[in-house]
Amino acid sequence: MKNLDFLAVCSFGLEGILKNELKNLGYNIIDVKNGKVFFNGTEEDIARTNINLRTADRIYIQLKKFKALDFDDIYNKINEICWPEYIPSDGRIVVNASSKKSQLKSERSLQSVGKKAVIDAMKTKYNINSFPETGDEYNIKIDINKDEALLLFDTTGEGLNRRGYRIEAGEAPIKETLAAALVFISGWNPDFYLVDPFCGSGTIVIEAAMIANNIPPGLYREFSSKNWEFVDSKIWERAEREAKQNIKNKDLKIMGTDMNHEMIEISKRNASRAGVGRYIDFEVKNIKRFKYPSEKGFIITNPPYGERMQEQKIRNLYETMGNKFRKKPGWAQYIITSFRDFREAYGRREDKNRKLYNGNIQCYLYQYYYKRKRNR
Ligand SMILES: C[S@@+](CC[C@H](N)C(=O)[O-])C[C@H]1O[C@@H](n2cnc3c(N)ncnc32)[C@H](O)[C@@H]1O
Repeated sequence: MKNLDFLAVCSFGLEGILKNELKNLGYNIIDVKNGKVFFNGTEEDIARTNINLRTADRIYIQLKKFKALDFDDIYNKINEICWPEYIPSDGRIVVNASSKKSQLKSERSLQSVGKKAVIDAMKTKYNINSFPETGDEYNIKIDINKDEALLLFDTTGEGLNRRGYRIEAGEAPIKETLAAALVFISGWNPDFYLVDPFCGSGTIVIEAAMIANNIPPGLYREFSSKNWEFVDSKIWERAEREAKQNIKNKDLKIMGTDMNHEMIEISKRNASRAGVGRYIDFEVKNIKRFKYPSEKGFIITNPPYGERMQEQKIRNLYETMGNKFRKKPGWAQYIITSFRDFREAYGRREDKNRKLYNGNIQCYLYQYYYKRKRNR
């Protein structure tokens, strides 16, 4: 089977988590850069990675890496590729480009030169002059950073955060990939309780239940590469079979609460679409009435940020959280927010913090570890 170079992209700050996911799936990591993890694989891994990875946004095949100082470099290097190996004669070709700190700055020009290079190569190889582009879409990306170009072929289609279960959401849902990353960062052990007291549409608790029971995030969605002619369709059957074999059915102590009744109903429906409804207890509850279900556990949560609430209200809410959550030292707390004065309002210095992005919003994850009881 053909060896391929792959690139998995993720939000800034999640590279280490994604790298671990890839290692756990048995991949050889080549390099890690801002928002990018490079690894090796074969055709088989187009399906395996798309189906199994929880924190990646997208999987590309890296077709080429080259120095790009002028548009001739772009045209020639792209034109050299044997495109009919990847794209049928009716394929709809979409070329995107991004450029950072490089001589070639115009993304629009990069797109049009790139597309011309692909079409010209196809004309020669197929020996036809016009391309109707009436078939499936094929996405090519030219990514230039410091004059170094990557020529990438998208295998994913709609972003990997779109698992398919979150058809309904509230005003500020957390990205599914970030929610999964928070669960990994927390080191939650599924024998313990996990509570999200601001669960909204249920993303964090749903991702946690899927992680605990090895339910692959991409099992029931489509990928742009699923119908590719140059890939053996059996790779999808094999990857799905392998993923299904690993699913567990462990009882879990996961709770999602929110003061908004409508959000709890949405959470329940999202959880049942994700196949994890039976593992999670949802309840309408204001944080003021928060009660610990046990001596030990994990709170992982994404409280309101303040963009839609007055600053003083947010401060009061975070103060209430601080007062409630500090009562049981056996509970670890992982709180993600973009509110600048979180620490002061919460009233406690975190053990560690980490800069992360929820879409375009810069946030910090404040981490409070659980404290072991001392035996005297
Ligand atoms: C940022 S959203 C959470 C989004 C969620 N992570 C998701 O993916 O959908 C914050 C949630 O906190 C809830 N909320 C606001 N004030 C609350 C309070 N005092 N007690 C409990 N929930 C509250 C809101 O109803 C909202 O659903």
